[in-house]
Amino acid sequence: MTNAHQNQGRSQAGIASAVVGLQWGDEGKGKFVDLLAAEHDAVVRYNGGANAGHSVVVHGDRFSLHLIPSGILHPGKLAIIGNGVVVDPEKLIDEMDNLAKRGIDTSSLIVSDRAHVVMPYHKAEDEIREDLFKAARTESPKGSLSEIGTTRRGIGPAYAEKAQRATAVRMGDLLKQDVLRDRVTKACTVRSAMFRSYLPGEQDHGMHDALNAEKVLARMTTAAGRIGPRIKETTYLLHDLLAGGKRVLFEGANGTLLDVDHGTYPFVTASSVAVGGVGPGTGVPTQRVSKVLGIMKAYSTRVGAGAMPTELFDELGQRIRDRGREYGTTTGRPRRVGWLDLVATGYACMLNGATGLALTMLDVLAGVDQINICVGYRTPGGETSRFIPDGVELARATPVFKTLPGFKEEIGTARKLSDLPPNAHGFIDTVQATLGVPFDFISVGPGREQTLDLRK
Ligand code: GDP
Ligand code: IMO
Ligand code: MG
Repeated sequence: MTNAHQNQGRSQAGIASAVVGLQWGDEGKGKFVDLLAAEHDAVVRYNGGANAGHSVVVHGDRFSLHLIPSGILHPGKLAIIGNGVVVDPEKLIDEMDNLAKRGIDTSSLIVSDRAHVVMPYHKAEDEIREDLFKAARTESPKGSLSEIGTTRRGIGPAYAEKAQRATAVRMGDLLKQDVLRDRVTKACTVRSAMFRSYLPGEQDHGMHDALNAEKVLARMTTAAGRIGPRIKETTYLLHDLLAGGKRVLFEGANGTLLDVDHGTYPFVTASSVAVGGVGPGTGVPTQRVSKVLGIMKAYSTRVGAGAMPTELFDELGQRIRDRGREYGTTTGRPRRVGWLDLVATGYACMLNGATGLALTMLDVLAGVDQINICVGYRTPGGETSRFIPDGVELARATPVFKTLPGFKEEIGTARKLSDLPPNAHGFIDTVQATLGVPFDFISVGPGREQTLDLRK
């Protein structure tokens, strides 16, 4: 037993920080995790899976990361996938191979042995459920409908399996043939009964194949052969890093408004997205996280179904979508676009205890004559400045806007606050005053260098 393991109280020497998205995902978390990774020793994912798509642009080269922490582009930093993540082993190998082809060293990657595995049958189930609900879509009551519009990466079914326990497979089980065989065989047997009426069929989305236990076992055994050496205990590892004075950065996936408890349920993802997910998702107590950087765009976007009160359906929305390249990193779907919603981002700041903010995509708003910011909702029960974390109720809310004058100047080359035009200052000041949390960064483009660092 090492000294560090005996010291259950643990030294407070190390620093733990987190990056979380304050909207419905795609706020630019990847860019800021990459930037902050330079100041940390390890970057750790605690939630979600390959539903995430984090883009990082380095010297004009674009990297899209789904499962691998966005710190991987900095040589020598530990990249840890925590136990709260659901891991598709084949996707992880693809991602490692693609990075290797581009000269990125992924040898520092570690995957928790307690992270759950996304199996082929989880992905088929995600597809079947989404198609079923799409076919059964109803427009009434408003906001209820329909499919969730998932990324179809098997995220919901994998977390459901985790909660159901008996048939779940954890990454560590990939290295234990007897356990793996037992769980996969049971999972296939249960599902074969549940999905009987689809099997085989045109609409089975590969479920028939995915329920062939021998085939699944062969695929998982091959995958385990590749990633086996990366599968490790990570909870003591993280505590040891912190006890040794290291700096650990937690990378949130998805966005706070997609949090399974606090988001616009049921149009959410299946994990704890807000910083509270760090505790269960890594074993490091959430209160150990002393800095929480909330990432927010200068407008709103959302992919998939669910209410977004400030949504723009006109030409301006399309213009923002095109200027902001608002097409999904994971699925390529066009993102829905709307005005900035400070009711929603204020709620997300509150849930996360954000200590600082990064405003992204401010450059995208250049040339917009007048900029709207949502500061309240009109609802059947009256006006409110509180968020409504319910998909059906939120669909009944309409925004109360504050209108600010826009700015014409392109700002992609700005490097300090004084480079920004007066109306951009007006926008920043209004947002900051309303949220009551300081801006640590303003981002004016995807590049690392297109960042105003206001911390100093
Ligand atoms: P994430 O999921 O939160 O990491 O965000 P995504 O990577 O899915 O989407 C954000 C997109 O915006 C990516 O294509 C980034 O390269 C890009 N991006 C980040 N910050 C800025 C910015 O300030 N301006 C512009 N124009 N693009 C940005
Ligand atoms: P990053 O980390 C944007 C959305 C999906 C869907 C809902 C549920 O790139 O910000 P799921 O596949 O998780 O069951 O889908 O959540 N969603 C995201 N939207 N960015 C993400 O991740 C997302 N992860 C999930 O579009 O509406
Ligand atoms: Mg994304």
